[in-house]
Amino acid sequence: RLLIVDFGSQVTQLIARRLRELNIYCEIHPYQTLDDDVLRQLAPRAVILSGGPDSVTRPGSPRAPQALFDLGVPVLGICYGQQVMMEQLGGAVEAGHHAEYGRAFVTPAPGHRDDGIFAGLFRDGREEVWMSHGDRVTRLAPGFQVIGTSPNAPFAMIADEARGFYAVQFHPEVHHTPNGRTMLENFVRLAGFTGDWTMAGYRDEAVRRIRDQVGDGRVLCALSGGVDSSVAAALIHEAVGDRLTCVFVDHGLMRQGEADEVVAMFRDHMNLHLIHAEESDRFLSALDGVSDPETKRKTIGRLFIEVFEEKAAQIGGAEFLAQGTLYPDVIESVSFTGGPSVTIKSHHNVGGLPEKMGMKLVEPLRELFKDEVRALGRELGLPDSFIGRHPFPGPGLAIRCPGEITREKLDILRKADAVFIDQIRRHGLYDDIWQAFVAILPVKTVGVMGDGRTYDYACALRAVTSVDGMTADYYPFTHDFLGETATRIINEVKGINRVTYDITSKPPGTIEWE
Ligand code: XMP
Repeated sequence: RLLIVDFGSQVTQLIARRLRELNIYCEIHPYQTLDDDVLRQLAPRAVILSGGPDSVTRPGSPRAPQALFDLGVPVLGICYGQQVMMEQLGGAVEAGHHAEYGRAFVTPAPGHRDDGIFAGLFRDGREEVWMSHGDRVTRLAPGFQVIGTSPNAPFAMIADEARGFYAVQFHPEVHHTPNGRTMLENFVRLAGFTGDWTMAGYRDEAVRRIRDQVGDGRVLCALSGGVDSSVAAALIHEAVGDRLTCVFVDHGLMRQGEADEVVAMFRDHMNLHLIHAEESDRFLSALDGVSDPETKRKTIGRLFIEVFEEKAAQIGGAEFLAQGTLYPDVIESVSFTGGPSVTIKSHHNVGGLPEKMGMKLVEPLRELFKDEVRALGRELGLPDSFIGRHPFPGPGLAIRCPGEITREKLDILRKADAVFIDQIRRHGLYDDIWQAFVAILPVKTVGVMGDGRTYDYACALRAVTSVDGMTADYYPFTHDFLGETATRIINEVKGINRVTYDITSKPPGTIEWE
């Protein structure tokens, strides 16, 4: 296995993701959990030291166990990891005034060969990389030499090739380092990995971890009907069978026909023990008059917990709670490892429930990105039609209805959304789009239909492409498609007389409207 030592960077998971793409098995361990003994037990074949928000010049800042450097295995340090290596191996790092963020170009040091760590790189003489650091190395540790530099980073790439130690100041794991994957691949090839590990392996490993964690306990799972909770449920079902009970809380904020589909899928197709809680009245009355997005999210989250607790009590409780939390939810919702990330939105599927109910969390997808969850779902035999579904947020249509939520607006929204999705399917575009939906706007506008005046709601179509939901761009529909869709919505959906297309990317927008 390959060990990733996490120093708290927001992009540590991306290292793991890149390695999984290369079919390499890796484990992330926070630096605090590692000591010399644990390290020897893990017996990694190679180690990657992640970036992190701290400064190695600060007393008490994170370090790697010293034994790591005596294991005789290749080590790659990234950003903070590079600085840790220099600090612990006898080099020097300076704080402050060398902050560098964003794009940079690295060129190889004179005389360097184009194989090994450089294989397939520097075709145009330089590589674009993404820098993000405040400190920098000022003196190399013994045995190291510079193998690549950038105008502002004389130690951009350094190596002690005899020991298989490499360190880079930039982040090879992010998209903004276009050939970063090749850099990581070169490192793991040098470390002797062949890349024979697959999603089937991940499934077995995940099942084993769930069994280890759950023992003889019982697990409850909140099913939303989305891909994430479905895959989590299928995986846990495989691990613990009938000791899993799923609760589907129908909050009245589902899309057209969705509740029935979910129940049919899980009860009939997967033979899961499923409780269907029809609670739309409770949710919609609590949301009456609420227009603030965070209040909506929190209200839904609170009621969700209430309903869930009631249903859990009815079946006599359970020790574990399963959630389909994905990695992007983790970093967008909470400050990961105490780092400086801010709360953009309160994703209601993270936090709250387990502490209150005295349950332990089972989150088997916590390390995965959406496309990996889909691959795992396929591996578990879920139908493609289900796995390919666009993501749907826990708070449902509530966050696609800016302003106050009414049953009337929800009905209109459901119909318009169904027409939009039908259009997308008819044109064969569904699988090219990450997520598509309609938002009903809190504004009425004047129109003319036939000989009459209308005064109805405006709506916005939203369709985006994305790889992981963390960044997104609007989908470039043809004008014909947009025109045809607008006509259909206005003709087929009473209550809407104006259709707009949202062409905001993320960032600066978000995918949902709230
Ligand atoms: P945003 O709007 O933050 O959405 O760009 C990114 C992705 O996350 C989904 N989303 C949620 N999913 N609970 C969820 O399970 C939530 O509270 C939630 N909020 C947003 C959103 O649909 C998109 O796919």
